[in-house]
Amino acid sequence: MAILKIARMGHPVLTQVAQPVPDPTAPEIRLLVNDMVETMMDANGAGLAAPQVHVPLRLVIFQAPGERSDPGLEEEEKFDHTAPLTCLVNPEITVLDAASEGGWEGCLSVPGLRGFVERPAHIRYKGFGLDGKVIERTARGFHARVVQHEVDHLDGRLYPSRMDDISKLIFESEIRHMKPASE
Ligand code: NI
Repeated sequence: MAILKIARMGHPVLTQVAQPVPDPTAPEIRLLVNDMVETMMDANGAGLAAPQVHVPLRLVIFQAPGERSDPGLEEEEKFDHTAPLTCLVNPEITVLDAASEGGWEGCLSVPGLRGFVERPAHIRYKGFGLDGKVIERTARGFHARVVQHEVDHLDGRLYPSRMDDISKLIFESEIRHMKPASE
């Protein structure tokens, strides 16, 4: 296992369209994912896409723990707001509801900053796990946001290019001034 170097905004690997993974069960893919998990945990991130560690393949990891989900949800609503640590190979997203929701995002490739981004609030995603089995889930809230953010990396997009209002690109140390809009 190893902590990998994370590409930062401006590195060309972050603007490429990544290539499909030919075989999600290949041993080298598992080794890459193990290193990506270690890298993401070390950097305290919620998600990481392979191009961020200089590997232009369609593969992301993410997690949407309960403490990141919207407070005040009913128990039966929590299901698609959360996800365990997941590796998704060759992911595809379907928007289920065009209504969008704004939220603050950060990115390990854009260190120190936060931006307010509108994204569809309800999606379905599909891809493969490292066992080659299909993973298909619906997602809302932070869960929907993190998956869309990570899959954007596979198409060479960083969240600032999704922003409508660039005045809401701020240093994370100043985010306290944005509350309660950041909740
Ligand atoms: Ni990112």
